[in-house]
Amino acid sequence: MRAFRRALVHASILAALTIAATAARAETLVERGRYLMNSVVACGNCHTPRGPDGALVAGRELAGGMEFAEEPFTARAPNITPDRETGIGAWTDAQLARAIREGVRPDGTVIGPPMPFQFYRGIADADLRAIIAYLRQVPPVRNAVARSEYRMPLPPNWGPPVGRVRAPSRDNAARYGAYLAGPLGHCMDCHTPLTPTGRDMTRAGAGGQPFNGPWGVSVARNITPHDTGLRGWSDAEIARAIREGVSRDGSRLKPPMGFDFYRNISPRDMRALVAYLRSLPPQPLASAR
Ligand code: HEC
Ligand code: HEC
Repeated sequence: MRAFRRALVHASILAALTIAATAARAETLVERGRYLMNSVVACGNCHTPRGPDGALVAGRELAGGMEFAEEPFTARAPNITPDRETGIGAWTDAQLARAIREGVRPDGTVIGPPMPFQFYRGIADADLRAIIAYLRQVPPVRNAVARSEYRMPLPPNWGPPVGRVRAPSRDNAARYGAYLAGPLGHCMDCHTPLTPTGRDMTRAGAGGQPFNGPWGVSVARNITPHDTGLRGWSDAEIARAIREGVSRDGSRLKPPMGFDFYRNISPRDMRALVAYLRSLPPQPLASAR
């Protein structure tokens, strides 16, 4: 009888421990998501509206509405808060995962540019779960956003279904930095020259893409270790450009790079980003398209 009672006590302690461990794990997931979303991943750089002064609108995190007017499309960032009618509140985790990594909505339609699917396909499973956990706890905002218009054919898909993806180990800083600058941060989406057939990844980081907006035009700079790029810059100068939007000569960098988010990139992730940029083959600055 005593043995039985002891077993019961044991079982309940075990159960309590399991619940505590699960709670701790859940918290870690949201915390990881919060860090990613408010630093290098920066979905809000497209999905959170900005006011006329260019500042993110308070209380409307991820509520959508920003317009991307280009020749082939007028795209509008949808509301990705958990509002059930105008946001993604009714989507399952699996549906969200598929939308973010594969660019397919629950109704089977393909999500168009400029959402960077070539890069998001490489988001690791654990980080994808963290991002989704974060999305679930953002305050829901009611905001119906008009559909995008594409004056170009969208591909039937962005590639075959994505299987399991693991993040590279942090032991190799440059390799982890490549994961930060590619799948997570899509730095290379803006900083790699575009050709009629897509991004020329043999010239990753060579810059040259123009970006039009209320700021006029800005041209993505060369972030390879070339004379026309970051050669000769100190680690601190590179970190300041990324976090604060201040170039080596002290001049202010223009949007659309997400400095509001990048300012929160951790020292460890910044070291990895810098190690990766320094590992790139030096490339001359690409001419603007
Ligand atoms: C460069 C800008 C940009 C970035 C960065 C971006 N998105 Fe998007 N996203 C868009 C646009 C524009 C659309 C709408 C495209 C369309 O209408 O087909 C979209 C569509 C979506 C959709 C589909 C919503 C719907 O109702 O159809 C989801 C979900 C989504 N984004 C989530 C995310 C998440 C999560 C991130 C960060 C990991 C992210 N986006 C980063 C621009 C962006
Ligand atoms: C949405 C497009 C976009 C994304 C994403 C982006 N950048 Fe940029 N970046 C730019 C543009 C455009 C400029 C130049 C702005 C200017 O000339 O005022 C720039 C400037 C820079 C500079 C300054 C170089 C110099 O000579 O002053 C660095 C360094 C840089 N980016 C690194 C990064 C890194 C690292 C990431 C990812 C964490 C990133 N960028 C993401 C568009 C982008």
